[in-house]
Amino acid sequence: MKLNIAVLPGDGIGPEVTAQAVKVLKAVAMEFDHLFTFQYGLIGASAIEKHNTPLPEETLSICKNADAILFGAIGTTAYDIDPNAKMRPEQGLLQLRKALDLYANIRPVVAYEELLNKSSLKKNKVKDTNLIIYRELTGGIYFGEKKLSEDGNEASDSCTYTRKEIERITHPAFKAAQARSKKVTLVDKANVLESSRLWRRVVQEIAPQYPDVTLNYMFIDNAANELIINPKQFDVILTENMFGDILSEEAGVIVGSIGLLASASLGDKHAMFEPVHGSYSPATNKGIANPIASILSAAMMLDHLGLDEEATRVRDGVGKSLKLHITTPDLNTKYDNISTTKVGDFIEDFINNPDETNLN
Ligand code: IPM
Repeated sequence: MKLNIAVLPGDGIGPEVTAQAVKVLKAVAMEFDHLFTFQYGLIGASAIEKHNTPLPEETLSICKNADAILFGAIGTTAYDIDPNAKMRPEQGLLQLRKALDLYANIRPVVAYEELLNKSSLKKNKVKDTNLIIYRELTGGIYFGEKKLSEDGNEASDSCTYTRKEIERITHPAFKAAQARSKKVTLVDKANVLESSRLWRRVVQEIAPQYPDVTLNYMFIDNAANELIINPKQFDVILTENMFGDILSEEAGVIVGSIGLLASASLGDKHAMFEPVHGSYSPATNKGIANPIASILSAAMMLDHLGLDEEATRVRDGVGKSLKLHITTPDLNTKYDNISTTKVGDFIEDFINNPDETNLN
């Protein structure tokens, strides 16, 4: 298969982890006889520095012409601490999501047997957790009208949703549930927010089309609590943009490190794959960033492109690296010198020699 993949490494640890995922994809292409070409684009702080915009036209056009996009991370500490910055790196990612209409953000959370003791939660609570978050990605408070009064003393961000925006993420969430444990939990704040009540109405109208799926509801505050107390109770979590952002970050605690969580952002025409974690600037170029979220995002890309055997090989490589403790310091207690690159090298070798790859 010939594929044109756009690569947007972004800021902070983005370039390091993305390099490992690209390496793994190159190994997949070689092993399974595909032709993958990679086109790189700037986004975020690095794009602001060079082009004075967080999303240069050229990057957008590379993405529009690609079969899939691999995204790293965005943002730097300098921007994080400056509320007065005229331009923000994150705008690059948000504009890209909007321009490509990537409305469905899919974030799986699966507890690895090998890592049960790395979670901050008790082993028996974490064991067998297997949930997936369907986060709406192009609406809500992220994209509503923003205002700052002239005297700078009043600011607002409005949270708006339309029926159509809710419908188009609800269907894939229910379809996913049909192929899983047949349960959808709608997370909202319908006791307070009008937009959440619209979500409930629309989701309740759609649910009967999926009679084999049970729909239940949770308010976001309660869901944040339940996700930690009893993550196993969830199958598919369906939620709006900001609640999904917060819950998916929280889910990193369950599995032992946010450095393990991958995601797919899908629209009707385009598809982007990115780790759930951010740019974590303090770790930049120290070789300690966990590349697994990026590598698993590449596996989600392969799934999306129908390359099932290839995706399975990548996941098996990740599984073996965890089993042998070939992991970065966020997870590792056995060896203290396993770098980002070493994890990537191991998984790359595994793609070509699944039975023989060991730590050396
Ligand atoms: C994510 C990130 C982004 C978001 C930021 C970088 C804008 O946290 O992908 O979860 O909030 O969506």
